[in-house]
Amino acid sequence: MRILLTGSKGQVGQCFKDRLPEDWELIATDSKTLDITDAGNVLNMVKTFEPDAVINTAAYTQVDKAESNAAKAFAVNASGTLNLARAAKAAGARFIHLSTDYVFDGSHNSPIAEDCPPNPLNVYGQSKLAGELLALAEHTDTLVLRTSWVYSEYGHNFVKSMLKLGQEKNQIDMVADQTGCPTYAGDLAQIIIAILQHADISRGLYHYSSGHALSWCEFARQIFAVAGEQNPHYRQVAVKAIRTADLPTQALRPAYTVLNSHALLARLPSAPEQTPLVQTIKRLLA
Ligand SMILES: NC(=O)c1ccc[n+]([C@@H]2O[C@H](COP(=O)([O-])OP(=O)(O)OC[C@H]3O[C@@H](n4cnc5c(N)ncnc54)[C@H](OP(=O)(O)O)[C@@H]3O)[C@@H](O)[C@H]2O)c1
Repeated sequence: MRILLTGSKGQVGQCFKDRLPEDWELIATDSKTLDITDAGNVLNMVKTFEPDAVINTAAYTQVDKAESNAAKAFAVNASGTLNLARAAKAAGARFIHLSTDYVFDGSHNSPIAEDCPPNPLNVYGQSKLAGELLALAEHTDTLVLRTSWVYSEYGHNFVKSMLKLGQEKNQIDMVADQTGCPTYAGDLAQIIIAILQHADISRGLYHYSSGHALSWCEFARQIFAVAGEQNPHYRQVAVKAIRTADLPTQALRPAYTVLNSHALLARLPSAPEQTPLVQTIKRLLA
């Protein structure tokens, strides 16, 4: 299988490279070698490489900054996604695109299925929703995979931020009224590989996240607990629960974005096991 990957220096991109099946061929691009907002280059590169699949993990992911940088967020997350879908279509390749739980407004109180209407609260979510819609309308062989609260040993993420803060502070404040499912980027990479290996899941909109719903506050406590178990010298940090209203941010964030992954998992009976948080923390502490 020939794969063209965008965003290969991001969390999911790096995890995907690490897990690439041996007999697959990969052209791994990043923002310098393939800026997805450059429609001409995207088309040329995809047509030249002739991949079986284009996987888009590139995105403008700075949720707060997007509020004052909407043009950039939409250029990457909406137009860039459309460029890739169009190029994949021209090359006869399938298109797999990652999207986000932040397309929802947080008003649900049970796991959210794919047919629930999106209603993003912030520019990032709006730009990601626009990308989904453009890609699905442009190329019938598009699969959009929404996920949530991504962490890994790479890049910037909540687990790494907490472990760093843990070295600096005795107590931190963390919001306890936003609930979601932290998802390991390596598990997402495995799921994308499994999707590519199952010809019957080729298109449409799917949700995938870990099944562990918790608040940022509970997640932070779990991270410190696991870090303490792994390293008895790890400084224990008190995590004080606060409300979203106590910590105003530029972007509004949804209160509840637990995704229901059943539709995808029911069609992927051999879905890979999810990686426990402890494994990533072990790697980061090492
Ligand atoms: N992180 C999360 O918590 C989360 C949650 C839900 C969904 N998602 C979605 O999951 C996907 C992967 O997320 P991630 O956490 O792996 O993201 P990430 O670590 O922020 O990586 C995104 C990558 O996209 C690249 N990029 C940005 N603009 C680009 C452009 N114009 N052309 C080409 N590449 C560009 C970035 O490169 P530079 O650094 O060089 O700009 C970066 O390496 C994204 O679609 C994201 O929206 C993420």
